[in-house]
Parts: sequence; structure tokens; C-alpha cells
Amino acid sequence: MSLTHRAATTLVRRAPPAVRQTAAAVQQQRRTKADASTSQAVFTSPFHRGQNNQQDTTAIPSFKKYRGGSEAGNKLFSYFMVGGLGGLSALGAKDTVQNFLVNMSASADVLAQAKVEVDLATIPEGKNVIIKWRGKPVFVRHRTADEIKEADDTDWAKLRDPQPDSARVKKPEWLIMVGVCTHLGCVPIGESGDFGGWFCPCHGSHYDISGRARKGPAPLNLEIPEYDFMDETNLVIG
Ligand code: FES
Repeated sequence: MSLTHRAATTLVRRAPPAVRQTAAAVQQQRRTKADASTSQAVFTSPFHRGQNNQQDTTAIPSFKKYRGGSEAGNKLFSYFMVGGLGGLSALGAKDTVQNFLVNMSASADVLAQAKVEVDLATIPEGKNVIIKWRGKPVFVRHRTADEIKEADDTDWAKLRDPQPDSARVKKPEWLIMVGVCTHLGCVPIGESGDFGGWFCPCHGSHYDISGRARKGPAPLNLEIPEYDFMDETNLVIG
């Protein structure tokens, strides 16, 4: 309570009744004015409760004082941030994909073995050599005239995996096959078995002199890889 107000109250108490009434009326008027001015400055909370004590969720608080700068400036900042972060993300994604592809691709030593050159002049007639190609053994057989005849004369249509000898060779004297048993992947032994070709000791599969499955559990003929003759004495496998 201010000093003036206190003095006025003291005077009112000490004054005669008529004067006291007038002074009291003046005080009441002042109070009413003060109340009126106070009610105009009331802050309305966005969370105030309206009728039926329900929360008013439609009132939108103003964030004006938190906003800084012009609209153009704000947009420029937003575009810069979006562009910058987008660029960084793209860079990261590119690096990730690149690293993944580099890891998945074949290493230098594997690529070097993608093609293998064989000097056929070093393989005498009637002999086998085994070449390592892409981690697998490849049989190269220099067949004799008798072996070629035997392979040709076989009634191939009745075989488990019917295939004529002519479909398995490019030159009759050279038989080139992947040396992996078609049953479960063992390496068959050359110049053995019941048909003068290859024998797989793992479960007893027999292949003939054309590498065709003739007996035992092997379901298919030995696979023929991709190969080409560069000239009379040079073979390239792969
Ligand atoms: S792996 Fe050759 S016969 Fe089973």
C-alpha cells in the first residue's frame, strides 16, 4: 500500500461520518478503475480452460518473438542446410556402394586365372594333364584314334545324360572337361573305371572316354568349360 493511500485511509478514519462517506466513495471509484485497467492487461494462456472446463486446443500460441530475420533470409538458410546435408549424404552413399562393389569383385589373382593358356605340344597322345582354372581342376586329354572311335561308337541316346561325343569336343583328339564329379564334387581319377575313362572313388561313379556318366550315382556328364584353340598348339581355357 502506497504512502498516499495509507494517509488517505487514516484521514478517512479520523474524519466526521459525512466526509468519511465521501472519501470512501472516492476510494471505491479508484479501486474500480484500477480493477478495470488490470483486467485489460490479462494474458490469455493458450492452454486455458473454456466452457465446461474443456481445454481449448484451437488457440495457437504466438512464436513471433522467437523468429529472427526476414523470410528470404530464413529460406536461404533452410535451402543451404538441406542442400549441404543432401550433398554429404550422397557422398556417403556413393562411398558405401563403391566399397561394397570393390569388396565383391574378384581379386587380382582370381582375375589373372580367369583365362589359362595351355601349350598342347607338351601333351603326348594318350595322356592327361590337369590344369587349375578358377580354382577347379580341368582335364585335358589328348585322345588316341581308338579312343575317339570308341567315344563315337557309343550308343549315346541310351545314356543317363544323352550327349554325342561330337557335342563335347571341338577337335576330336582334344577332350577338355572340368574335373569335378557331378555327384558330390570329388575329383575323378583318369584312365580308370569300367569304361576306360575316369573313375570317382568317393561313391563309385564311372565316366567313359568322352567324360559321360556311365555307372554309379553321378547324374550328369563331366562339364565342358569354355575354351578356344588359338592355333594348332595353343589352347585358352576361359
Ligand atoms: S562324388 Fe563322385 S561319386 Fe560321389
